[in-house]
Amino acid sequence: MADAQYRSGDSRRAFLRKVGVSGGAGAMFATMGALGLAPSAQAAQREEPFRGLRAGDFSVSGRGAAKVVVVGGGIAGLTTAYELGKAGYDCTVLEARGRTGGRNFTVRGGDSTTDLYGNKQTARFSDGQYMNCGPARIAQWMVTLDYCRELGVPIEVFTNVNADAYLYNESAGMTKPVRYRTAKADVYGYVSELLAKATDKGALDKELTSDDQEKLVDFLKDWGALGDKLTYEGGERRGYTTVPAAAGTPGALLGDVPSASEVFASGVGRYFSFEFGFDQAMLMFQPVGGMDQIPKALTKAVGAHRIRTGAVVKKISDTGRGVSVTYAQDGRTRVVEADYCVAALPPNILAKVPHNLGSGVQSALEAITPSSAAKIGLEYRSRWWELDHGIYGGITETDQDVTHIWHPSHGFHGERGVVVGYYNYGDDADSYAKLTPKAREARAVAAGVKIYGEKYRSELATSFSHHWRQTPHLEAAWHDTPGGPDDPRYKPLNEPTGRVYFAGDWLSYTDAWQHGAFTSARKAVTALHTRVLSS
Ligand code: PHE
Repeated sequence: MADAQYRSGDSRRAFLRKVGVSGGAGAMFATMGALGLAPSAQAAQREEPFRGLRAGDFSVSGRGAAKVVVVGGGIAGLTTAYELGKAGYDCTVLEARGRTGGRNFTVRGGDSTTDLYGNKQTARFSDGQYMNCGPARIAQWMVTLDYCRELGVPIEVFTNVNADAYLYNESAGMTKPVRYRTAKADVYGYVSELLAKATDKGALDKELTSDDQEKLVDFLKDWGALGDKLTYEGGERRGYTTVPAAAGTPGALLGDVPSASEVFASGVGRYFSFEFGFDQAMLMFQPVGGMDQIPKALTKAVGAHRIRTGAVVKKISDTGRGVSVTYAQDGRTRVVEADYCVAALPPNILAKVPHNLGSGVQSALEAITPSSAAKIGLEYRSRWWELDHGIYGGITETDQDVTHIWHPSHGFHGERGVVVGYYNYGDDADSYAKLTPKAREARAVAAGVKIYGEKYRSELATSFSHHWRQTPHLEAAWHDTPGGPDDPRYKPLNEPTGRVYFAGDWLSYTDAWQHGAFTSARKAVTALHTRVLSS
């Protein structure tokens, strides 16, 4: 699960981390093992049990595939239609926006958006340049990669952590950025020194045998690059002002090793645990050419004729024998009748749609609250971060309201590139949203100039900003689900209510990840198919 402080953007704000307690998985595997269905140990680490539907499923039961209306053409909705389609279900997907993908949205030159404040932007990115406004990184254990493989979407490494990217904490008095590698050397060095010295003075005599203490100190010497006297004195890990090269150029070490007190006061250590997160550890991946290659491939696989875009859902009624979904499209009101419905809209949007599914559904939807996040893509005329700073991908962490600055993980040594000038959350994202796109750019650039210098301004070609809380039909980057997705109050969403099923990352232990949308859709599809087979 996510590192709470990274996700909230900085430690100033409290972020209530959802604790994922994965309950019945072990029992499920045991049962599957007894049935001879357990995947290999290796596969078990990668995927939750899911058996894809097959057309042949119906030949044994003698029943036929049902008609399903899928509300929402994001990852959960598309996956629902895709998986049900494998067994011949007749699916219709209703998508309010002009494109499928939901929060999986990649912006390229020519794309336009209008936010809820009325700001209209048309991206002016040059050919081949893009920004993933929503999901942008995929961990190796995520089902998302299985869909990339199955759908033929090529992937490449996404650089989530880079020793040469910067850390910048202005509020701690830093006047220039420090490289990750330097900050790590110093923090690990001094922590190791202090612990080694404390151990040496007997502080751990109650906790560890002398043998274990010796091993601990050995580890700390290595971990912190300590000298014989157990002191940290800097060294090559911090980096060089002149790098080692040919004979005669041994390299010049970065000078001015700060004191332990200075290092702790700078607060740089707070960024290191991010990469320990189960969901954020390297290696990570991205689709080649933009994250929307995933919904594009899903859309193609589902069949464009099954998907209605610009279709805004107005009412969901369970009629007892079927489901009737009313929607508006091109100024006209239409209805889709189906045997079942899978509602795959964000809960905050679903909560505004009239339905007859009962107050349990409504109060569950309303308990789940939307969160803000935003990004600005800054396209530069040159890749000055590679040329002048030697930074090839990765993320610079700041205590500024821009929070994270992302360097592109592809197109190295190309002419241009798009830097994500802010990826921020909560109040930071909302306060940028209130500005005009031009003003957002100016504020983001001013923060970047402090870290990278004038080229952050002078090389800028164009920008595009995207704020999820202010995006029509979505109005959230992700959600807060009090108590976690298995809290009893969400039962009417986790189990079908009448003929309506629910799916989305917000009903998973990995909200804010496509993995959650994929797995939630698989769960709904499995339940629906099981019911159809036995009804
Ligand atoms: N998946 C999103 C991201 O990687 C949001 C998120 C951030 C989720 C941090 C969990 C932890 O940026």
